[in-house]
Amino acid sequence: MTGPPIVTIDGPAGAGKSTLGRALAVRLALPLVDTGLFYRALTVAAAEAGIGVGDAQRATALAQRATVTIGMEPLDPREGGWARVDGRDVTDRLREPALAGLLAFVAQVPGVRAAILEPQRRLAAAGAVVLGRDTGTVVFPSAACKLYLDASPAARAARRRRQLLRSGAVVSDATLAQEVGGRDRQDQGRAVAPLRVPPDAVVIDTEAHGADEVLEIAVGVCRARGLAVAGRP
Ligand code: DC
Repeated sequence: MTGPPIVTIDGPAGAGKSTLGRALAVRLALPLVDTGLFYRALTVAAAEAGIGVGDAQRATALAQRATVTIGMEPLDPREGGWARVDGRDVTDRLREPALAGLLAFVAQVPGVRAAILEPQRRLAAAGAVVLGRDTGTVVFPSAACKLYLDASPAARAARRRRQLLRSGAVVSDATLAQEVGGRDRQDQGRAVAPLRVPPDAVVIDTEAHGADEVLEIAVGVCRARGLAVAGRP
């Protein structure tokens, strides 16, 4: 392995990236970087600035001007991470359902994606487990270890339901299927950095394995790619 120990975990919504990411960050003793937090934080800032869907120019200017800081605690599975924009905490609004349309827009603006490339790379300069949609293809093309998680839309909708139930929300099957399907179309269909399996990634089917098994498969791949893994052999 050359360069810092970077593990990328990409895949569609609800495939289990954060479950694996947290466990893997602990096993590898690396920080956890959820790149989705950048897009979510900028979306909150865009909404506050009155930037609407379609205004790519202002969204780009905002992303170029704003300083976004993010973090996620791997040992606390309830925590969805935090974010600040220009020092102001926007954590409470990161998952606001009313911002879903603006989030999908902001994430496909080329200037926004370009503006946050360097900030993402800086966070993993000394190594990290990185979660996202384009981390193995665009952000860290030479990452030491690339994983891609996948599962059927039904399994991902079920996972999402469990997540929502834990946070006290009740959502219908139809709404969940629509949410998962809609996000797939947005993530795979956009022109810039669409969701793709990186050519040198190992694909793990998270429907066929339990969370512990997925972790062991991932640890095995990391070890084979030369990363130092603490704990059990
Ligand atoms: O992983 P998430 O649901 O928190 O991601 C939030 C949004 O950001 C989602 O619309 C996908 C997008 N995203 C992206 O386009 N590229 C990434 N590397 C991470 C997230």
